[in-house]
Amino acid sequence: MRVLDLSKELDKLKAFYDSLDEEKKTFTLPWTLLEKAIIVVVEEDKGRIIGISGIRDNYFAFTCIEKQFQGKGIGTKLIKERNKIVKKNRIGILYATTHKNNIIAQRLLEKSGYNLVKIEEDIYHYKLYITMKAKLLKFLSKWANKIGLKT
Ligand SMILES: CC(C)(COP(=O)(O)OP(=O)(O)OC[C@H]1O[C@@H](n2cnc3c(N)ncnc32)[C@H](O)[C@@H]1OP(=O)(O)O)[C@@H](O)C(=O)NCCC(=O)NCCS
Repeated sequence: MRVLDLSKELDKLKAFYDSLDEEKKTFTLPWTLLEKAIIVVVEEDKGRIIGISGIRDNYFAFTCIEKQFQGKGIGTKLIKERNKIVKKNRIGILYATTHKNNIIAQRLLEKSGYNLVKIEEDIYHYKLYITMKAKLLKFLSKWANKIGLKT
């Protein structure tokens, strides 16, 4: 597993994206966002990229595994690795969205500690509290809501 600097490996990532024809019909890889991403974690098979997970600013994260390698724990591994980088960059909270029909992505997010915070039409919104400070803020906000204080 490697962490890529996108500015140097864009061609490789474009090749990976082009190989995803089948998936492109059921979801959209946010390529325009991918290009602006700051970090991408990749899993490789014989030097070829088979999965990516990126971070952009402190609010956007995406994960995608080549179809034939799905269901083998790679998504889970990438998210773990990616979150270590997020922590090092002192990013407290990550957000993710998924379509209501994307059950696998929902399971992956929930398994990785994301909390479902909102369902808006067909879109599920998730939040992941990474740092202790963010976790403490979440706890205080819940507690304040319980005793009737607005946060
Ligand atoms: C979503 C995605 C990244 C998951 O990656 P993955 O490597 O297949 O996931 P993992 O093997 O780590 O599995 C994670 C969990 O998803 C669920 N899952 C995985 N494959 C599954 C399948 N075929 N059927 C049902 N559940 C499945 C399981 O609950 C699994 O946890 P478990 O093994 O402890 O039971 C991958 O399916 C993908 O690239 N999908 C297309 C792109 C996409 O939708 N990205 C997410 C946008 S929010």
